[in-house]
Amino acid sequence: MLRYGNARDLCIGIEAVMADGSVPQELNPLRKNNTGYDLRYLLIGSEGALGIITAASLKLMPKNPETITAFCAVSHPAATVTLLHTVKGALGDTVSGFELLCDFGMNLLAEHFPDDVVPFEQSYGWYVLIEISGHAGIKDELEETLAAGFESELVLDAVVAQSDAQREDLWRLREQTPEANRLTGAICNSDTSVPISQINAFVAKSDAAILAIHDGLRVNSYGHIGDGNIHLNVFSPAGTTKKDFLASHPESRKAVCMAINEVTHDCGGTISAEHGIGSLKTSDLEMYCLPGKFNALKSIKAALDPNGIMNPDALFSD
Ligand code: LAC
Ligand code: ZN
Repeated sequence: MLRYGNARDLCIGIEAVMADGSVPQELNPLRKNNTGYDLRYLLIGSEGALGIITAASLKLMPKNPETITAFCAVSHPAATVTLLHTVKGALGDTVSGFELLCDFGMNLLAEHFPDDVVPFEQSYGWYVLIEISGHAGIKDELEETLAAGFESELVLDAVVAQSDAQREDLWRLREQTPEANRLTGAICNSDTSVPISQINAFVAKSDAAILAIHDGLRVNSYGHIGDGNIHLNVFSPAGTTKKDFLASHPESRKAVCMAINEVTHDCGGTISAEHGIGSLKTSDLEMYCLPGKFNALKSIKAALDPNGIMNPDALFSD
């Protein structure tokens, strides 16, 4: 997403089955098409609630000769954003991954996936997985950029994968994070995105708001920081199970989810960056969607699916 854009950016033609049984097919790979409303943009991300996409034409990009993955330690979320700007400044559009992890998340990984290698011997607080791909020799440019970051004490430690196997080892830390969260059992998880300039404020304010609800709560903050998309997974205090904690603090789940939503809203963010609304976030959508947009969404749904037969529980609660 950071480099190539999201599904809307990459899809240049679509075919779908609509609620009335019609099958509009616009699969010609046109770079420009301005004939009225854009059904493609409406259907992508509509969670099957307007129609079911049955085919698509996609933009393709040339494969890059080299792909390099690095794992860096920094002391603070603000440093991750500075590093993002530094790496993008030096390496431009070759940056194709910029993912956040934190110490607590690393501890969960170590607990559930003890065979996976954490590349540093000590804890640093925050970590960024960086991937770049481009022309041959690009690895030197990344290493120089990270070395300069090390000199200026922005980067506290770093490893650059020397083989595809090492790249996979580094990615596994990031990719197994949701599974480590699931095995631990979060009481609440978020799919927040905020403007990149607000990432630091969002992490600080959401941490404070969660700890104000109960000071033992533990937060795994991770995600696609290059896209401003941070997932917060909140866990019961150390030594308590989720079940016991929720039994003794039954209001805490709702309080935590609402606190994250409020901070997200204050930071100019959105409650659903990539996973959508589904049936779980219908009341959140109603609360945080601009009223004009909410009415337009409902009108579109009523016009295209008047009998409410397409994924009827998604997006709206009535
Ligand atoms: C991830 C999923 C949870 O970023 O969106 O791992
Ligand atoms: Zn994600």
